[in-house]
Amino acid sequence: MNDDFTVVLVTGEGGDAQGWGNMEVTNHVKAAIERNGVRCRIVLAENREELVNGLQKGACSIVWSSLYFFSGRGDIVGIPADAEWISDILDEMKIPYIGPSGKTMKNLIEKFDTHEVMARALVSVPKHTLCPPADPATIDYFPAFVKPNGESRSVGISDRSVVQNTKELIDQVRFIQTELQQAALVEEYLPGREYTVLVIGNGKTREILPGRVTVEASHYGKYPILRSDLRGVGLTHISIPTEHREEAVALAARACDALHCEDHVRIDMREGADGKLRIMEVNGIPGLKPVKSWSPQIYALYHPSDDPYTALIGAIISAARV
Ligand SMILES: Nc1ncnc2c1ncn2[C@@H]1O[C@H](COP(=O)(O)OP(=O)(O)OP(=O)(O)O)[C@@H](O)[C@H]1O
Ligand SMILES: [Mg+2]
Repeated sequence: MNDDFTVVLVTGEGGDAQGWGNMEVTNHVKAAIERNGVRCRIVLAENREELVNGLQKGACSIVWSSLYFFSGRGDIVGIPADAEWISDILDEMKIPYIGPSGKTMKNLIEKFDTHEVMARALVSVPKHTLCPPADPATIDYFPAFVKPNGESRSVGISDRSVVQNTKELIDQVRFIQTELQQAALVEEYLPGREYTVLVIGNGKTREILPGRVTVEASHYGKYPILRSDLRGVGLTHISIPTEHREEAVALAARACDALHCEDHVRIDMREGADGKLRIMEVNGIPGLKPVKSWSPQIYALYHPSDDPYTALIGAIISAARV
């Protein structure tokens, strides 16, 4: 190993909404990288110029970005039509980066595109329709689930996301379009257990670690779904699943292969009415808050040690380095 190997962490205003976190989380990631004996520096950037300058200012062997693109928004992902993608800039500069390729990142951030790639590869996803272009009045599968096509942290998700008829569906699609200024993704409602699967590494050393996600029943309203008010407040619990374990691993592997995921992704899935798992989404830059985020929590369950966070960050860096 080359001792001058330097990881450059990139973050900015959208870091928490889009990727693994804001400046506070970035400092934790940096410290963990350094505890692995690897050099690290941070570039805070809000536009192309700041990123290019920051990268050129010092050593840079590989970039690890918390941003998909520059947005100036910390509250929602809200993909602008003229988004400037970090991966495009890094590809132009011929700088390698941790995580999936730019093409895969773009497929992952829009859930309809992710579903389409997986459906073509016969990976199990819910029935799904994007509005627009589709007219919500033509959708005929109920109960259905309506969510924003490109958000995270359950933004836009409440009990009203589960719709039982055309009127409720049209109202919720309109809500997503006006409140979040984006297309609504309508899916078949998946009523069963929820899982999130951590995938780290590539090829033969890839590790696929499923977690069961639960919330104490009294916190649910009408439906057992992870509403936005249940996220990020310490109410979700992750455990090693007793059911669906092999199915979740096999499904995650096929999804990663279909989408060409790399280094670190997290795949959310739920059980459909038929008892089989379907993928809800693949997170291309999963959260890395030391205690709260699901990747560190799952890793700690499968690799208990004094400092599983440092081990997780080390595993991701090692996977990306080879
Ligand atoms: N088709 C569905 N049927 C039932 N519940 C669903 C469905 N899609 C999403 N949900 C619920 O909404 C939550 C958020 O959905 P999803 O994981 O697609 O979006 P997200 O906000 O991007 O999440 P993340 O923060 O993990 O990126 C899920 O964890 C799940 O509880
Ligand atoms: Mg999710």
